[in-house]
Amino acid sequence: MKKIFLFGNWKMNNGLEETKIFFKDLTAQICEDAVICDQLERSFLEVCIFPPFTSLYVGAEILAQNVKKGIFLGGQNGFYEDKGAFTGEISLPMLKETGCSHVLIGHSERRHIMGETDDLIHKKLQAALHHGLTPVLCFGETLSERESDLTFEVIERQILKAVNGLTKEEIKKTIWAYEPVWAIGTGRTASPENAEEACSYARTLLCNYGNIDIEGEGHRDVHILYGGSVKAANVASLLEEPDIDGALIGGASITADSMLEIIHESL
Ligand code: G3H
Repeated sequence: MKKIFLFGNWKMNNGLEETKIFFKDLTAQICEDAVICDQLERSFLEVCIFPPFTSLYVGAEILAQNVKKGIFLGGQNGFYEDKGAFTGEISLPMLKETGCSHVLIGHSERRHIMGETDDLIHKKLQAALHHGLTPVLCFGETLSERESDLTFEVIERQILKAVNGLTKEEIKKTIWAYEPVWAIGTGRTASPENAEEACSYARTLLCNYGNIDIEGEGHRDVHILYGGSVKAANVASLLEEPDIDGALIGGASITADSMLEIIHESL
């Protein structure tokens, strides 16, 4: 049985009040659901929510009061330096102090709207691992890259730049997320076959780089998620694919009801 990861990236949504309601509803409903509780307890399911920075603390407080194994909090970004003159940035130790165990790195909106480069993303990945956070490293091609048959070239470049110098254990500790840019927020999900093809390619690259036996059980410790218009109606078919270990969910993760519906459909 493969472990399933359901990660909710709120992006720039949910202020303090909405965050309180979300975490109260999510924890209350999960506590009443024996199946979800069992999966979380046995570590067959991992849920992580990535609120905006300003909503992290209130989320952490509610989670701490309703301790539930398997539900985590993550930052949507983090800088590679610990402190200093970096206006507008948040450090990885600050994220940890606020209750985060995970951090998104290289999300396509950071790459394409904020201009983050492969080099910057690599530094952030190394720093996150150094600080003991679980990095969620995002990669994926744009529509024009896909239409120009560059999908695998882009995936290879982004992964090999990110993974450079990482040990086998660090590759396993990182969670990898394939997010084709053309499927993000567009309602246009990659077909399970397309998503599988890309995730399988990424797994091969990562196993080759880390000298991890892709035929053996070790490859199951390399975790790869799919993101891009995931919702309750399509999550199960994506998770049926052998190389898709979970989902990075944007729009459908911002209310507790919608996130819970996705969790139900995944089990
Ligand atoms: O991080 C999440 C992804 O960007 C997917 O967003 O589910 O709104 O398409 P979406």
